[in-house]
Amino acid sequence: MNIYLTGATSGLGEYLAYKYAKRGAFLALSGRRKEKLTDVAKKCEELGGKVVTYCLDVTDQHATKESIQDFLSKVVSIDLVIANAGYGFVDRIHKGDPTELNKVIDINVNGVINTVVPFMPSMIKNDKGHIAIIGSVASHFAWPGAGAYAASKHAVKALSKSWRRTLPKNVDVTLICPGFVKSEMTDSMGTMTPFMIGTEDGVNRIVKALDKKKKMFIFPFIWKLVIALEGPISFFMSMPFRNNHKKNRNKL
Ligand SMILES: NC(=O)c1ccc[n+]([C@@H]2O[C@H](COP(=O)([O-])OP(=O)(O)OC[C@H]3O[C@@H](n4cnc5c(N)ncnc54)[C@H](OP(=O)(O)O)[C@@H]3O)[C@@H](O)[C@H]2O)c1
Repeated sequence: MNIYLTGATSGLGEYLAYKYAKRGAFLALSGRRKEKLTDVAKKCEELGGKVVTYCLDVTDQHATKESIQDFLSKVVSIDLVIANAGYGFVDRIHKGDPTELNKVIDINVNGVINTVVPFMPSMIKNDKGHIAIIGSVASHFAWPGAGAYAASKHAVKALSKSWRRTLPKNVDVTLICPGFVKSEMTDSMGTMTPFMIGTEDGVNRIVKALDKKKKMFIFPFIWKLVIALEGPISFFMSMPFRNNHKKNRNKL
């Protein structure tokens, strides 16, 4: 199985790499941190995988495309592309600075486009392939305080739906929507991570959903209920933000 995976240096991406390495996959792994990438690649080889690494930033369209062309030159066909690299940030809109919000959109939306689109000619030509996009429960629920992240994950939901409707029937598209899963991203969030599950558990569930070629997979199940109750839940979640604005108004 030939797999191209972004964001392989930590969290879900790192454990996805290990899971597929155990199956003997040929893996193209990418990330910006060279040392971490080398460590993950080494472990994948020990687990039985074959690996090439690309140290790159997914927002760099040309570097990403070059890596894809290089990987395609090494394989007969691509089986699975996992657009996993992502970045989460609290908006802090009261500061009036769009820089970090733009970064979230750039990595989480343009990064996915840069990763997936260059594979499409090959998938269309071979009439096969599987595109997996790591969205989030935030693809369905606009969290107070994380508008750019929710917007980016809503955007990749739209991309996955549209690409599924556009590509040949034999090319599958899966949108994976995790709740909180232990990773560097959630480690930086402190205690604001309800219903969190372990990384390996999360990855096992993701791989099962990909094996079944599901169109969309929201997990753990509790998040389906949370999403259905977005209106009342977000009303209560908004309260601390609104109260903070009242407190801070005089300082602005
Ligand atoms: N963990 C959760 O609870 C959760 C929930 C819902 C969705 N997700 C999604 O799951 C995906 C993986 O996140 P994670 O939780 O595993 O977080 P993580 O441990 O922080 O991993 C993020 C990965 O993305 C890579 N990355 C970030 N920016 C990049 C860029 N500009 N170019 C290339 N690679 C970049 C990082 O590698 P480098 O730093 O080496 O570049 C790292 O390998 C993300 O799309 C995230 O939004 C996670």
